[in-house]
Amino acid sequence: MKLEGFPQTVSLRDGTPVTVRPLAAADAKALLEFYRSLPEEDRLYLKDDVTDAGWLHRFVALVGSGEVVSLIAERGDKVVAEATLYRALRGWSTHVGEIRVSVAPALRRDGLGTSLAGELVKVATRIGVEKMVIEVVENQVGARKMFRKLGFRQEAVLHGHVKDINGTKRNLILASSDVSHVWDAMEALVADFSPSAE
Ligand SMILES: CC(C)(COP(=O)(O)OP(=O)(O)OC[C@H]1O[C@@H](n2cnc3c(N)ncnc32)[C@H](O)[C@@H]1OP(=O)(O)O)[C@@H](O)C(=O)NCCC(=O)NCCS
Repeated sequence: MKLEGFPQTVSLRDGTPVTVRPLAAADAKALLEFYRSLPEEDRLYLKDDVTDAGWLHRFVALVGSGEVVSLIAERGDKVVAEATLYRALRGWSTHVGEIRVSVAPALRRDGLGTSLAGELVKVATRIGVEKMVIEVVENQVGARKMFRKLGFRQEAVLHGHVKDINGTKRNLILASSDVSHVWDAMEALVADFSPSAE
């Protein structure tokens, strides 16, 4: 799927410029390096083993098939964040998109996660997604707060549904929002802080 309007330069809250663009197959190595550089504390609760080259191979194939939209943020030649929109191409939930975001620890709390989520909402609108969902482990406090600010609200808690990479069972929270609602929340947030896109 060809995405219009990229690459973009996004200025973070502290003025750092990063380039945001769709993932290409040639970015696979840089993406793997990014995920492998995340602290274990972050990887503990990620749904997939993003450090596994086999996962990456399947992920890039899903991007190729249009089931996944992946945006990366780069600083120099390094990937510093990735945001994913998963959307089933068949079946009864083709109007639902699941969103996931990971940002390098050094660049957090500067608006990049919000900015990437916002770009994915724009993409979601264009491809006919009506409802956005996130799946987060109860302990992912930062992610829960960020998505709450974006208008996501808890729909369900699945108890002991996740085994983290240490084998400890955790509760999974499903939260959702209508795309139009996220859009309104994004516009309100832009007034508060302005990671600007050119
Ligand atoms: C969750 C994550 C993507 C947020 O990225 P980010 O670039 O730091 O997000 P933003 O700067 O846009 O934060 C927006 C708001 O979310 C909330 N927030 C984000 N991280 C937070 C944290 N660690 N603690 C408390 N609130 C947090 C804050 O309200 C923040 O606004 P503020 O900085 O003005 O107070 C990032 O922390 C991350 O990659 N975590 C590990 C992976 C993960 O949990 N991903 C979610 C899977 S869906």
